[in-house]
Amino acid sequence: ASMEALSLSPPMSPPVILTQDELKKIAAYKAVEFVESGMVLGLGTGSTAKHAVDRIGDLLRQGKLTNIVGIPTSKKTQEQALSLGIPLSDLDSHPAIDLAIDGADEVDPHLNLVKGRGGSLLREKMVEGACKKFVCIVDESKLVKHLGGSGLALPVEVVPFCWKFTANKLQNLLERSGCVAKLRNDCEGKPFVTDNGNFIIDLYLKEELGDLQIASDAILRIAGVVEHGMFLDMATTVIVAGELGITIKNK
Ligand code: 5RP
Repeated sequence: ASMEALSLSPPMSPPVILTQDELKKIAAYKAVEFVESGMVLGLGTGSTAKHAVDRIGDLLRQGKLTNIVGIPTSKKTQEQALSLGIPLSDLDSHPAIDLAIDGADEVDPHLNLVKGRGGSLLREKMVEGACKKFVCIVDESKLVKHLGGSGLALPVEVVPFCWKFTANKLQNLLERSGCVAKLRNDCEGKPFVTDNGNFIIDLYLKEELGDLQIASDAILRIAGVVEHGMFLDMATTVIVAGELGITIKNK
């Protein structure tokens, strides 16, 4: 992996304290610099990706970008892109995507990601798995040594049918990592339902997962599991915005 660091403030200027949302916006705007007219673009989901989609909408309106086709990774992003006048399509019509821009919940030193705390992991994995370049945009709080190490959840999308059975299978599989599996609820206390009509089981881990590829394969072999939120070896670039500037990490 190569790394490039860009300072946010000129030398000698007083330090500026930026909010997390401002950092997300800085990373998002930097990623949009990679967008060229005529591209098929994967449009991510979440508060960081939202800034990127807004920026693409602005550049289209200003005529600085033309002939863009967006492939949204969720119904929410689809609505946002439509409201901005971004022309949209889907993977059926555009199976090859030039560039996708999306956030992440965790990024490890090898640029492996955890995604899906916003619940859109399945469509994100389909779209981002079909692109030549996947630029992941995060503020520095998302950097972790090991995936699952932030104390937050590793999300798994499961079919609603007998979800408790599937949750138990997941918990038993990852028992050695001290896994606790919990059904995700929405703000009304009902099961959170994904854009695909499925549920999310959040896996809370006390210990590292060990070999991520082995864990990934084992999770996917459980009947009832649709997809999980580990995105291994998928990001080609990660843009990290922090108080000291922007860091661009390339695979
Ligand atoms: C949604 C995702 C998001 O990219 C991830 O949750 C990061 O969100 P945010 O940019 O709001 O911090 O994977 O499924």
